[in-house]
Amino acid sequence: MAFEQRKIVVTTPTGHVGSRVVRLLVQAGARPTVLMRDPARLDAALRGLVDVVQGDQGDADAVVAATLGADSLFWVDPPALVDGDPVAGYALMGANAARAVKENGIARTVFLSSVGAEKRVGAGEIDGLARTERMLDEVAAGVVHLRGGYFFTNLLMDLDGLRAGVLATTWPLDLPLAWVDPRDIGDVAAARLLSDWSGRQVQAVHGPADLTFAQVAEILSVAIGRPVRAERISDDTVRDGLRAAGLGEAHIEGIVGMAAGLREGFVAEDARTVLTTTPTPLAAWAHAWLRPALDGVGSQTM
Ligand SMILES: NC(=O)c1ccc[n+]([C@@H]2O[C@H](COP(=O)([O-])OP(=O)(O)OC[C@H]3O[C@@H](n4cnc5c(N)ncnc54)[C@H](OP(=O)(O)O)[C@@H]3O)[C@@H](O)[C@H]2O)c1
Repeated sequence: MAFEQRKIVVTTPTGHVGSRVVRLLVQAGARPTVLMRDPARLDAALRGLVDVVQGDQGDADAVVAATLGADSLFWVDPPALVDGDPVAGYALMGANAARAVKENGIARTVFLSSVGAEKRVGAGEIDGLARTERMLDEVAAGVVHLRGGYFFTNLLMDLDGLRAGVLATTWPLDLPLAWVDPRDIGDVAAARLLSDWSGRQVQAVHGPADLTFAQVAEILSVAIGRPVRAERISDDTVRDGLRAAGLGEAHIEGIVGMAAGLREGFVAEDARTVLTTTPTPLAAWAHAWLRPALDGVGSQTM
C-alpha cells in the first residue's frame, strides 16, 4: 500500500521526539493521525495537515479507538505514575499500546525505548520501557524498539545549574554515554513509519558520538559562551532535592535508578554502528537551543 493511503498514528505530537515525527511525515506527503490530550497544543503550522484525535494515552479505550484501522503506530510511553510509581505508570501505558496493537491488528509499531531497556530490571524508570517492549513483543506482527541514548534535551531540566556554571550529575564524569538529539530519533522513527518491514527488531539511536560529562561541559562552555564544569553529585543529594520538590519515594527511586543501574558493569546490547549513529552534534544543538533557553529567550518548536 502506498504510504499516502496508510493510517499512521503518532502519539506525543508535542513531545521532543513526536513533534519531529509528525513534521517529517507531513513533509513526506503523509497525513498522520495524532493522538493528544490537548489539541490546542498542536503546532499551529500543522493544523489542517494532520487528523487530530483527542485522548489520554492512559485511557485504553481512547487508544484503541484512535488506532482503529491503523497500519502503523508511533508509540511513546508518556510520563505517568501509578500509586506514585513511574515504572508501573509506563507499564500501564505500554499495556494500552499492546491492547490497541492486538485488537486493531496494527502491522508496524515503532516504540520509543531507551538504552538500558535490555537490562529488563534494575534501571529505574527504564524498567517500565522494558516492560512495554515485552508486552509489544507478545502481540505485534511488526515492532521496532528504538533504544535512544541520553537526550540532549535533558540539559534543559537544570537551567539554573548551568547558569551557575555547573553541570551536576550522578554519572561518573569519565563514563562515555551516547548523547543524542531527540529530533534525530524522530527522523529514524519517521523513516520506519514510512517503510515496510516485519518481525521484532531493536534499533539503538546513539547520536553522533559517545561523550563523557567532562567532555559535555567543555562542549557546552564553547557553544553557550559561558564556562561550565561537570560536577559529580551523590544519589542521596539527588534524592534530597527531589524529596524537597515533593516527589514520592517510588518516583525518586525511578529517577535515581536510571544512572545507578547503568553506570557500573552495564554493557549495552546494541553496539554503535552506522545504523545507530545520527548526525546532530551536541555543540550545534546547544548553540541553537540551550543558549537561548539560558538567556530566557522564548521556546520555539525544535
Ligand atoms: N530523556 C532521555 O534521555 C530519554 C532517553 C530514552 C528514552 N526516553 C523516553 O522518551 C520518552 C519521552 O519522550 P520526549 O522527550 O519526546 O517527550 P516529552 O518532550 O517529555 O513530552 C511528553 C509528551 O507526552 C505527552 N503526554 C504526557 N502525558 C500524556 C498522557 N497521559 N496522554 C497523552 N499524552 C501525554 C505530552 O503532551 P502534552 O502536550 O499533553 O503535555 C508530550 O507530548 C519517555 O518515554 C522516556 O522514557 C527518554
